Amino acid sequence: MVEPADVQKGLEDVIALESRICYIDGKGGRLIYDGYDIRDLAANSNFEEVAYLLWYGRLPTSTQLAELKQRLAGLRELPAPVLRLLTAMPRDALPMDVLRTVVSALAVYEPDETKPGEASIGGAQRLSAILPAILGTIHRLRNGLPALAPRPELSHASWLLYAIRGTDSNELETRALDVALILHADHELNASTFAARVTASTLSDLYSAVTSAIGTLKGPLHGGANERVMELLEEIGTPEKAEEVVRAKLARHERIMGFGHRVYKVEDPRATILREWSKRIGEAKGNLRYYDLLRAVEGVVHREKGLYPNVDLYSGSVYTLLGIPKDLFTPVFAASRVAGWTAHVLEEYQDLRLIRPTARYVGPVDLVYSPIGSRG
Ligand code: CMC
Repeated sequence: MVEPADVQKGLEDVIALESRICYIDGKGGRLIYDGYDIRDLAANSNFEEVAYLLWYGRLPTSTQLAELKQRLAGLRELPAPVLRLLTAMPRDALPMDVLRTVVSALAVYEPDETKPGEASIGGAQRLSAILPAILGTIHRLRNGLPALAPRPELSHASWLLYAIRGTDSNELETRALDVALILHADHELNASTFAARVTASTLSDLYSAVTSAIGTLKGPLHGGANERVMELLEEIGTPEKAEEVVRAKLARHERIMGFGHRVYKVEDPRATILREWSKRIGEAKGNLRYYDLLRAVEGVVHREKGLYPNVDLYSGSVYTLLGIPKDLFTPVFAASRVAGWTAHVLEEYQDLRLIRPTARYVGPVDLVYSPIGSRG
């Protein structure tokens, strides 16, 4: 029997594969998509262009971008059976559970898009285009409102906001969401992307891979942290109370959501950008309460634990000010990360190797099987 090398719990620092899609410099606090710094992309790009970059490995020309925008805008409609499924879901179901179920169901109605291999680019575009409609419909149906018809003239970010709120967004709101979507679109081998690649590595289909990813993103240590950040702010109430509440939590060895990261040992560059947007959108809305509270929390956590903010610290405040309800934060994360998940699945199909690590067995061997009736 070949003895495995040392166990790396959580696969920390294990290089599992080669990828051209995303590079994280954890010590330097840099995030790169296909060669481009996230700060450049957040300042100048939009979700559709970044999705193109992740899928094709290069920035599009203006014609290519216009074509992609048009294609995505034409793929927003929910199939009738999927709308019926959404309507049949309990009103109080968790949106992430509904999203996972609906993406899985979609595969049954769109078998061509789900096929593994190069044709999966069609499925990647379909899933990215349709997620806003799923999210918006979940939210509207639970509020007793009918589903909205797609608006192909809107950009991806403004369609997503419209699908959830049912009202048009202004330029600043659209830009704030677009930036958040760019920042969340990929992050190397994070848990949900790894889950997607594991699924794809068995030559399973793209929709199954994205279903695995959604289930993985749901966990609070990955996608759900920003929701809990907003709960913390509600508990704290005013910036003056931040010290007392945070210190008490740390004394109880509780984790403060929105801080720490497996890869970044300095500030997550996405947190830096979202901090600016939290302030900017707060100023525009005349509500800097969340920003002020977050700054206070940040000061205490850094002083007490030396921890830096991650992407989840400020994103919830931006979403709340945009009118996105708390339990849709993680689904909105999915509506962005789907570009990265699908890019990774496409890459996996091109360089396929079944992902199957090994475990060090620590249980007994040679136990003697006893009949059930004679067990004590
Ligand atoms: N609050 C308090 N203490 C913390 C935190 C935190 N948020 N994060 C890490 N620590 C402490 C932890 O208790 C441990 O201390 P000690 O050595 O005394 O036991 C030490 O720091 C190392 O923690 P770890 O769990 O070994 O570090 P990790 O690399 O496994 O954890 C993490 C990464 C993200 C799971 C963790 O920092 C955490 O739980 N953060 C809160 C949840 C959160 O914000 N998640 C969003 C992550 S960013 C989203 C993404 O990129 O996908």
